[in-house]
Amino acid sequence: MLYGGDYNPEQWPREVWEEDLRLMAQAQINIVTLNVFNWAALQPDEETYDFSKLDAVMELVRTNGMKVCLATSTGAHPAWMAKRYPDILRTEKDGRKRKFGGRHNSCPNSLTYRKYAPKLAAELAKRYQDYENIAAWHVSNEYGGECYCENCEKAFRVWLKQKYKTIEEVNRSFYTAFWGHTFYDWDEIVLPDLLSEHFIDDTGRERTMFQGISLDYKRFFSDSLLECFRLEYDAIKRYTPDVPVTTNLMAVYKGLDYQKWARSMDFVSWDNYPAPDAHPSAVAFCHDLMRGLDGQKPFVLMEQTPSVTNWLPYSRLKRPGEMRLLSWQAVAHGADAVQFFQIRRSIGACEKYHGAVIDHAGHADTRVFRETAQLGRELEQVGGLFLDGRTPAKAALLFDWDNWWAVEYSAGPSVRIKYLDAVLDYYQAAYALHVPMDIISTQDALEPYQAVITPLLYMVKRGYEKKLQDYVRQGGNLVVSYFSGIVDEHDLVDTGGYPGRMRDLLGIWVEECDALPQGEQNAFSCFGRRHPADLLCDLTHLEGARALGAYEEDFYAGMPAVTVHTYGEGNAYYVGTRSDQEFYRMFLERVFSQAGIQPLHRAPSGVEVCVRENAGGTYLFLLNHTEETKTVLLEREYEELLEGRTYRRQEEIVLERKGVRLLRAVE
Ligand code: GLA
Ligand code: ZN
Repeated sequence: MLYGGDYNPEQWPREVWEEDLRLMAQAQINIVTLNVFNWAALQPDEETYDFSKLDAVMELVRTNGMKVCLATSTGAHPAWMAKRYPDILRTEKDGRKRKFGGRHNSCPNSLTYRKYAPKLAAELAKRYQDYENIAAWHVSNEYGGECYCENCEKAFRVWLKQKYKTIEEVNRSFYTAFWGHTFYDWDEIVLPDLLSEHFIDDTGRERTMFQGISLDYKRFFSDSLLECFRLEYDAIKRYTPDVPVTTNLMAVYKGLDYQKWARSMDFVSWDNYPAPDAHPSAVAFCHDLMRGLDGQKPFVLMEQTPSVTNWLPYSRLKRPGEMRLLSWQAVAHGADAVQFFQIRRSIGACEKYHGAVIDHAGHADTRVFRETAQLGRELEQVGGLFLDGRTPAKAALLFDWDNWWAVEYSAGPSVRIKYLDAVLDYYQAAYALHVPMDIISTQDALEPYQAVITPLLYMVKRGYEKKLQDYVRQGGNLVVSYFSGIVDEHDLVDTGGYPGRMRDLLGIWVEECDALPQGEQNAFSCFGRRHPADLLCDLTHLEGARALGAYEEDFYAGMPAVTVHTYGEGNAYYVGTRSDQEFYRMFLERVFSQAGIQPLHRAPSGVEVCVRENAGGTYLFLLNHTEETKTVLLEREYEELLEGRTYRRQEEIVLERKGVRLLRAVE
């Protein structure tokens, strides 16, 4: 298994490189990501490329028997380029043109960037094409941000023309009859920014007056950056067609439609920087989301900090065992490689206090280094055993970037509606039940799953309702939440009553939605208990569905809060309000058991259970996220891979605080 991280030798003299390589070997590190932010050194001016220093580093790494993940350095452009070609600089949403500085600073629609970034990638690929220890290419770094410059505006018009063909279709999709915003010419269309359709409201939120154009800007900008990735991808493939190409993603990053991106990437990799108080299920969700991008195939953990993340408000130390636990959690969810940012701590600029394998002390005698080396030994011990292992999920959860953008641009019904909250409500409950889920996109098939959950499915793209209907009719179990089935892909409301094109499938009509301000709650009874109804209460009529619970208070007391509709061979559930984890657990437990989905294994609260399966066997991961000792009663015979001992069926396995057990099922 590959184990390593970002290494920036360009910041250090050669003696240090040699010492670093010695230390890396001591920690069982076998791969380094090189050349992430090195453009200015590689291209000192317009005509010259200088690879001498990188050649030396590459050679040293090779002679030390290590693999390279070679980055293209295009995540930050050189200062001379910005001075000479200011079109490469981005423009803020308030119209201010940026100067040179920072990183991820290039306008993706700048012709300068589109010329010189792929050119550098090509030069690198040409130079190192015969260098056989390149394990992967790493294009740019954490693509993201926005630009509102004139070039982007022009490119946006081209993008719209390709999508809509006629200006009439643009007007229809953007609903420009409202406020008389009708366009007669493509050139009248401007970017939706703070000088046009956007504004900052009293709570500091950026809002839009026209959701249609704002949604299309999101799609357009995600596509613009993706085109830049693809230009570099193609340039690299001309020289090294067999080396896989990736870029490091950021999991729940709202700006880019990663489901679309993954189709252009050879494999998915991502950077995991959870806040110290993040619930383990939120981290698990990110891994599963990333795994889901490319047909549930394994991914690479491209970055994580070995200790502190210095850009968070507090550089809280990862407690002893925590880095190890988070690393195995990644593997348990499908990571086939574990990497850090960074190998050696820099001495200047804004990341000098960020965690590193080798810190400012400069030697191996630190807690962080010892923990890194211990993990290295463990990874070495299991070798390639888990590689290509898949998660046997029978349930799926739908995640859709378009819907995320749309539901949070929505002007009403509640500022408290957050897509990720709604998704995590269900994900966390399934996690607590030890039922793994695949995170799927609207393009993925539903048939492989016995249950499908579609939280906050506000936007139902044309035709998707048909997919859901077919799935349930053939025996599937579908869970739909409040504020669903409202609009199409242009954020235009489906008339004829909510939940629009899903009304027939769900067997209900939602007449009104009551948004509850913070602190106000209703309640409903279901499964013999009273549960809170929070955030939004859908006032629902039954049209063939059965009520599983009804509101208890206010003028709509007695109206259904939770319903189920038998449709064909399957069941379509509707949860018309937001409740708490206790409810979601009880609810999903019933949905899953009715769908014939069993938990992976029984385990006490705080212990995460994951399974990976490959041709070599079935592996059970037990991860104790708590500070207490936990015990799991094993349901079959297992071999523990690190201890090298066998546990019998019905034997207890003890996990110390933050403990990890890697078990192979004995056939
Ligand atoms: C990101 C970047 C790295 C580094 C780390 C620090 O993930 O990709 O270059 O800045 O953050 O946490
Ligand atoms: Zn731009």
